[in-house]
Amino acid sequence: MSNGKKVLLIISGGISAYKSLELIRELKVRNIKVRCILTTAGSQFVTPLSVEALTGDKVYQDLFSLTETNEMGHIELSRDADLIVVAPATANIIAKMRAGIADDLATTALIATDKSVLIAPSMNVKMWEHASTQSNMMELQQRGINVIGPETGDMACGEYGVGRMSEPLSIAQKINEVLLENKGMLQNQIITKTKPMKLVGRKAIVTSGPTKEAIDPVRYLTNHSSGRQGYAIAKALSEQGAETILISGPTQLPSPSGVTVKHVNSALEMLAACKEFLPADIVICAAAVADWRIANPNINKIKKNGELPVLELIENPDILLQISQLTKNRPYLVIGFAAETQDLIKNAQAKLSKKGCDWIMANDVSPETGTFGSEKNTIHIISKDGVEAWPTLTKEIIGQKISIRIAEFLDGLS
Ligand code: PMT
Repeated sequence: MSNGKKVLLIISGGISAYKSLELIRELKVRNIKVRCILTTAGSQFVTPLSVEALTGDKVYQDLFSLTETNEMGHIELSRDADLIVVAPATANIIAKMRAGIADDLATTALIATDKSVLIAPSMNVKMWEHASTQSNMMELQQRGINVIGPETGDMACGEYGVGRMSEPLSIAQKINEVLLENKGMLQNQIITKTKPMKLVGRKAIVTSGPTKEAIDPVRYLTNHSSGRQGYAIAKALSEQGAETILISGPTQLPSPSGVTVKHVNSALEMLAACKEFLPADIVICAAAVADWRIANPNINKIKKNGELPVLELIENPDILLQISQLTKNRPYLVIGFAAETQDLIKNAQAKLSKKGCDWIMANDVSPETGTFGSEKNTIHIISKDGVEAWPTLTKEIIGQKISIRIAEFLDGLS
């Protein structure tokens, strides 16, 4: 379908560079022409000779080596291609792309291009989760850079997590998609994603966002939750193959694809929706449910008549507690959050035992942390096994990490 298209493949210095050789073969099978830039670090992992043998073309390595008349300069190299692919894309080249650094042939070609760019990140899980890498990725995606992966799995360094470069076949399919998108040919095509899914056959319910408790038809009690953390968790669970139901208080967020979203307003509605969708294998209560509601909301707007209205509050049902205490069909895993402004760990540990859930995700929501509404969060996971601190991460990554943890936990049960 992308017959005769030209890809400029940049191989940077990561352990998965060997997979790029397989990628060249996959592209050639699709009749896509491949020209390669091999960075100095990349050449530590694959030899120029093997790249040349597979592409049937000269491999480009040096910014200043226009010695032969038929050799292409960096501008020509990047403009001649229909698409530039960076695979593997290391943390280093991603950071340079964000900053616009052009200190070798690869980065100079990237900054000189007027064509689409696709990157396939590949690095150690901690490097991937590092705040600077996450911020660089967000910025590149906002600029319209296409991204595939990274995937979750065992790493060459012996660790496990998110960071493995996608498989050559998946990258080749993605390249095909991007080339077709560039031609405006994808409108009616289904794009198949080939991610490993660890929660296929599992059902998950996630509560998210604030609740609104009516004072009268005009006014209400609520809080600062944006729903971002819960939405990110639902998205990650669904990406791992779980049938995912997101019960959302009022937010401005678009529904994550593949997720069934039930919109509610009040705590009572949220509880009723949870009951409607139970039983489930996993329940995650990320919603900031109002602890109290107005005992008797006024049917009409309360008038300002010189006297201060007296608002009587009553306690809302505790959704997390009720689900944790189910005796029939209790989910295998019930996860709550603790939103605290002081004594984070102590208060979260108390919530774990009071609510009877399996794990508590503790986060500080003091105004200076910016936890409410922002893209980032800092989590401590608390369970009967102890406390584990996570670094500050995007809510998206936290969602991915939680879903991996859940999959591992459920695997351990069988
Ligand atoms: O939405 P964002 O802007 O992305 O912000 C994310 C977040 C800070 C809202 C989220 O990470 C978070 O902490 N959610 C829980 C907020 C909260 O209400 O915490 P809590 O400590 O008051 O409640 C403890 C747990 O009980 C929570 O899992 C809560 O969902 C649950 N609960 C509380 C009261 C109630 N009536 N029913 C409940 O289920």
